[in-house]
Amino acid sequence: MSEIDALFQAAKNAREKAHAPYSDFAVGAAILTASGTIHAGCNVENASFPEGWCAETTALGHMVASEGKVRVEAVLVMADAALCTPCGGCRQRLAEFADDTTPVHVCDTKGVVQTFTLGELLPHKFVLK
Ligand code: THU
Repeated sequence: MSEIDALFQAAKNAREKAHAPYSDFAVGAAILTASGTIHAGCNVENASFPEGWCAETTALGHMVASEGKVRVEAVLVMADAALCTPCGGCRQRLAEFADDTTPVHVCDTKGVVQTFTLGELLPHKFVLK
């Protein structure tokens, strides 16, 4: 199975678990790390709307909880949408562990629609030190 196929399958499985009763917009995300591991996540919404969070954030949480700080080699996001790119906050969160060249594959339910680099999605990320 190719790297993208494995990421797609992981994101698809996670998306099936999405808790999105308010937006009815389920999202799955998967991250490939430098150690070759894939971490996936779904969006988790809340009755108090701003308290919910995105699929990419869940995937990053799984990654850090199991591997600590590790380089993100590739990201895949999937939703039943024309182009579900990561939100601004998730771009900055991904940038903490990835770099400008890291590919972000944006998918619908059938496959990859468009691939960006993280640098294209988030030029001039905030850097504290
Ligand atoms: N969402 C994600 O999980 N990832 C994205 O890349 C875009 C948006 C979620 C947040 C919310 O639960 C729902 O999609 C609608 O905005």
